[in-house]
Amino acid sequence: MSKTSNINRVDGFAKVTGSATYSAEYKTPGVAYACLVGSTIAKGRIKSIDTKKAEWAPGVLAVITHLNVDKPAGYQKAKDKHNFGQPLQVFKDDTILYYDQPIALVIADTFERMQYAASLIKAQYLKEDHSTDLNKAKDKEKKKEGDKGNDYHRGVEDGYKNAEVILEEEYTIPTEVHNPMELANIIAKWDGNKPTLYTKSQGVEGTRKSVGEVFGIPAADVAVNSEYLGGAFGMGLHTWPYEIAALIGAKKLNRAVKLVLHREQMFTNVGFRPYTIQKMGLGATKEGKLTGLTHEAVAMTSSYEDFMEGTVNMSRFIYDCANVSTRYRIVPLDTCTPIWMRGPGEATGSFALESAMDELAHKLNMDPIEFRKLNYAEKDLEQNKPWSSKYLLECYEGGMERIGWKNRKNKPGSVREGEWLVGYGMGTGTFGCYRSPTSVKAKFLTNGTLVLQCSVNDMGPGTATMMTAIGADVTGVSTENIIIEMGKSGLAKGPTQGGSATTSSVGSAVNDSCQLLVKKAIELASKTDVLKNIPIADLAFINGSVTSKKDSLKSISLVEVLNANKLEELAIENQSKATEEAKKYSIYSFSVHFVKVLINPNLGKIRLAHVVSCADIGTVINQKTSAGQMFGGAVGGIGMGLMESLEIDHRFGRPINNNFADYHVPVNADIEKQEVFFVNKKDPISNPMGTKGLGETALVGMAPAIANAVFNATGKRVRDLPITLDKII
Ligand code: MOS
Repeated sequence: MSKTSNINRVDGFAKVTGSATYSAEYKTPGVAYACLVGSTIAKGRIKSIDTKKAEWAPGVLAVITHLNVDKPAGYQKAKDKHNFGQPLQVFKDDTILYYDQPIALVIADTFERMQYAASLIKAQYLKEDHSTDLNKAKDKEKKKEGDKGNDYHRGVEDGYKNAEVILEEEYTIPTEVHNPMELANIIAKWDGNKPTLYTKSQGVEGTRKSVGEVFGIPAADVAVNSEYLGGAFGMGLHTWPYEIAALIGAKKLNRAVKLVLHREQMFTNVGFRPYTIQKMGLGATKEGKLTGLTHEAVAMTSSYEDFMEGTVNMSRFIYDCANVSTRYRIVPLDTCTPIWMRGPGEATGSFALESAMDELAHKLNMDPIEFRKLNYAEKDLEQNKPWSSKYLLECYEGGMERIGWKNRKNKPGSVREGEWLVGYGMGTGTFGCYRSPTSVKAKFLTNGTLVLQCSVNDMGPGTATMMTAIGADVTGVSTENIIIEMGKSGLAKGPTQGGSATTSSVGSAVNDSCQLLVKKAIELASKTDVLKNIPIADLAFINGSVTSKKDSLKSISLVEVLNANKLEELAIENQSKATEEAKKYSIYSFSVHFVKVLINPNLGKIRLAHVVSCADIGTVINQKTSAGQMFGGAVGGIGMGLMESLEIDHRFGRPINNNFADYHVPVNADIEKQEVFFVNKKDPISNPMGTKGLGETALVGMAPAIANAVFNATGKRVRDLPITLDKII
């Protein structure tokens, strides 16, 4: 285990003391305050909009609607290719495509005057019939334009139908919303034709590209700063109308404009996990060998953008099964576009797959883990490649021991603790290990400091801490002497934070740049009088000095080398990317979540007595931040399993629980005992550190683990999330 594997979060002090600056907190002289007024219908056109009272209200600087918007030169739809596009052109015309779509931007000199003025805006509409109910509209399903990955078959199509034992069931998950504590927010300003954004985005470079496309300017002219994020969970993977609206307002006034969404707008304007209906067909021999697996999904998207995610993907490779079919369709509804939400796709898919696996195990009268072990995939049958590493069995074992699996009985309702029914359940998760090209600039300064720069940002997992640890491991510079600069444009280009890929991408780039920097330091030092005539291979960089491996007295500090050469710094900027070798392997993280539930049979109350999350994520770079991610992500999965659902009143096409009083998420009191276990074995292929990715696996498999435990306790199988008490009494 590395010396740095247990360091404290390097930005922890700034965050808990309030000195970390979030987007809307940047001190901007003369900033004006803006808000969005939303449509009160779900579909139709704006017949008239009365802005006069608002315009005349004290302190109002501008009211912008589709009637008076100065469409900036080149104002256009951003292409969706970066997944950062903004196909909804805010204020483009009188068309309403979803409830709460922005119809006006109000800007005033103070926050209070802005809010008052916004309350004075009145619109009349020409309503059209809207469609917001996936259950009613599912026959309008379509394939995503140009998408080839919709249908997959291996062996006999729908081969499960020929099996000795068959299970066919349907599972649904409702719309869930990200709703991080920090509201979506932006400060926008322009210098001539060059905008600067302080915004809540998970991708500095992605936001630059999409804003550049919308306004017809080079991405290089767009400055983005999103150094600190108070959570995001995927909502920051898109550029949203509020960001473009703020930019339009700032341009018109030639003044900085600050816009923070209201909590209610977080439920309607910045994406969500899409409502999804899934059908599973599983077939097995009487002995429990899977012979066929079909996984179909129909999910909602918006009317103006085709959104898809990896809902059915896991079913193609996680088990050893000869005949596998998957299908995925989308249905355009009159809502805002969905976006990836933590554990995207796979979290949804695992609910159907891992519930169905539990149901089939029950039908076969088998222990659900024995059933999974019997169908363990020795290689990836989808890609026909070996795993780079796979310690899934260790996750099963680790979890069984910690949760007390031996106390579980296959027959539901047969274990009690006092008046409580006891149930044990588990669910398997997985997520691909991705790595995107990433640049990091590493430099030694004359004060002995190592500076690492990358435009990647951190929505919470601890990216700066990971960079610090890897930088310290490679260079030997102590962690206190490492400075991380990140989260803004102008630095070496980093990836979007997301897809559980940040450590793999950015960590590798830190590793490579630091190695090159050390090499450069040794080369430079070898030319000094102290070290001349010593072969480079005999020199090492130790404790900030270049030293002969054979004679430690022959040593010169890098600071002296820099001073001797009149250099202020020694720097390397290098881009790292995945190796060709890695393409020969299937690289996935694996997780298994175990839960023990206690259920009161009279009240239907569900208590989570014990939750254990086990994962094979390759090397664990930092025990604290990794455990923190796993705890937090698993809690997200508990919300998915037991509480979260955005309820839509389909008569009006609008949500009825768009607030934290009615949209429930778990709190500390909801989880009695939670544990995390990492196998922590290096992957030999994935990247120089041997990490595989963690964030998403924290959620994938958790919701079905709960559903399976509820069944084990009560004999009630709940196939539509969330599992609220009305469904089990
Ligand atoms: Mo994650 S859903 O890639 O932010």
